[in-house]
Amino acid sequence: MHIAVIGAGYVGLVTGACLAHIGHRVICVDNNQTKIKRLQRGQMPFYEPGLKDLLKRHCKLKQLSFTTSIVQATKESTAIFIAVGTPSKKDGEADLTYVEGVAREIAQAMDSYKLIIEKSTVPADTGQRIRRTIQMNLPLRFRKGGVATLEFDVASNPEFLKEGSAIQDFMHPDRVVVGVESVKAQRLLRAIYAPLKATMVVTDIRSAELIKHASNSFLAMKISFINAIAQICTLVGADVVKVAEGMGLDSRIGRPFLDAGIGYGGSCFPKDVDAFIRLSEKSGYHFNLLKEVRQVNDEQKAAFVRLIEDKLWIVKGKTVGVLGLAFKPNTDDMRNAPAIDIIELLQHEGAKIKAYDPQAMANAQKILKDVHFAKDPYALAKGCDCLLLLTDWQEFKKINFQRLKKLMKHAILFDGRNLYHDENLPALGFEYYGIGRRVGITKKE
Ligand code: NAD
Ligand code: UGA
Repeated sequence: MHIAVIGAGYVGLVTGACLAHIGHRVICVDNNQTKIKRLQRGQMPFYEPGLKDLLKRHCKLKQLSFTTSIVQATKESTAIFIAVGTPSKKDGEADLTYVEGVAREIAQAMDSYKLIIEKSTVPADTGQRIRRTIQMNLPLRFRKGGVATLEFDVASNPEFLKEGSAIQDFMHPDRVVVGVESVKAQRLLRAIYAPLKATMVVTDIRSAELIKHASNSFLAMKISFINAIAQICTLVGADVVKVAEGMGLDSRIGRPFLDAGIGYGGSCFPKDVDAFIRLSEKSGYHFNLLKEVRQVNDEQKAAFVRLIEDKLWIVKGKTVGVLGLAFKPNTDDMRNAPAIDIIELLQHEGAKIKAYDPQAMANAQKILKDVHFAKDPYALAKGCDCLLLLTDWQEFKKINFQRLKKLMKHAILFDGRNLYHDENLPALGFEYYGIGRRVGITKKE
């Protein structure tokens, strides 16, 4: 099928590359000219494992191309995915300016049947608003007395990929959710996704939109739940890693998303939890449970900083080394990374910050001020009063702690992700603090 994907960001590019990979002819659109020029030259706007190769391969095969023109992409395609950003407004509501703008541009370029699919995360009811926007903006020749004479469909197809494993998630989804209001739209979406052989949930548009917000909010709730348990573990002297293991083996609960830490970050959970709270409020339901999820998440970062302040006693003038900056491993994405708040809180207390991240330093440099960026974990450790592990990159598991210890002023490690729950760092001479863990407790003991 000829498909357009509008918005060449994390979701749009992965969607475009993967749809090309399963046999469709895809044209990716972005209004950022520099980004499109760079993509046409084979340069990536961000780091996502495997994506560069996939893009390169399908551009070469002419299955995939890039443009800044929504007009061209609309004319060439039957199905059009909208994958632009839906950031938060000041009050937390989703800002749908980009979605509306794109819907208008598509409408103005339409000259035959199109299926317009929302892939961006949007509040329930957006599908209806897109439909109305398209009706109102079709070329005059396709509008008779306010009624559209050109056939089109709107559908919702929320995306559930995770950054860092986006291609795997897209190609092997737990489910594909489609919200449709016509048999034709359903048939086209089934044809698009048929090669994936995935379980498909077909529903109305509002329910599909709600599935996305409810899923992200539920996952955020699971993380906040285990973070709250971690606080209790600290107070009663239990080990949250063991508690998560014990809980997670219950198939009704499940182990994923029970890793306690410094809270969830990224471009989606914080924004989508806010947007869902606002949507519920506007609809007449006060989602206090979700407000508490957000509160626990904020508190997690503050509690981590309080722990560091308590153990260092005086933070002013101390050199703090930060291992990991990205909001999660295998990405260079710094959007809402917990590292930003933690570093700024410590800087406010007078700490000198050094930092290292395998991929995110270029993005971090645009956000963080007065940070010395090191070339590797050992250069980072040199002269540090303590280290903070803020992103659970697997390569940090391979660090030689004997070597690290010799370089540090004081061998103190605050593990914000419980990455070293298996290693006996106290036995190597480290003062070690995890999240919700008894100091020095390891599997070996
Ligand atoms: P992004 O910011 O990385 O990409 C959005 C792109 O849209 C940008 O390149 C921007 O230039 C482009 N754009 C904006 N207005 C445009 C216009 N008028 N015409 C053409 N292009 C335009 O955002 P993202 O992370 O890919 O997220 C996109 C949506 O998908 C959001 O709603 C997000 O919540 C959702 N989502 C994101 C993820 C994720 O992992 N990042 C996963 C699932 C869903
Ligand atoms: C999340 C969802 O997992 C995706 O399904 C969804 O499509 C996406 O949001 C979206 O809508 O954008 P993503 O934000 O890429 O994906 O990454 P996650 O792996 O979910 O991690 C989010 C944050 O939670 C990270 O900061 C991570 O460190 C943290 N996290 C995750 C924990 O603190 N504990 C956990 O157990 C899991």
